[in-house]
Amino acid sequence: MIDHSALPQVAFDEMNRVHHEEATLLNTLEELLKNSPNDYDSIATCLHEIIEHTRGHFSNEERLMREVGFPAFTMHESEHIRVFNEMQRIVSQWFGAKNNELLHDYFLGSMQEWLTTHIMTMDTITAQFVCMRKGC
Ligand SMILES: [Fe+2]
Ligand SMILES: [Fe+2]
Repeated sequence: MIDHSALPQVAFDEMNRVHHEEATLLNTLEELLKNSPNDYDSIATCLHEIIEHTRGHFSNEERLMREVGFPAFTMHESEHIRVFNEMQRIVSQWFGAKNNELLHDYFLGSMQEWLTTHIMTMDTITAQFVCMRKGC
């Protein structure tokens, strides 16, 4: 479970709100995998929500970066593209095999670790730049 109080905070609050929503969805998936591992419909719905939320999360940050002319836009965007493609690949594999272990390892393991590191690095720098240009 992601502890919301331990989620790294960035300077631009709109980004924090989105990160908390993402953590809530990942915690919902964790509960489903633990308590209802055979409820494939609910797991599928949750996976769709995670994919759609991530799409919005990343495109919102990319919009903000464009608006303020963030110099490392391409670096940040390419990391979003890499992770979004990876996430879609894992989800489509799960739809084929219904292998919950795959979801567990990815969404509760490497993806969560990536999210925390990404917030602490690229998102933190982006948010500071957005605040500098837009004000916070
Ligand atoms: Fe983010
Ligand atoms: Fe980001």
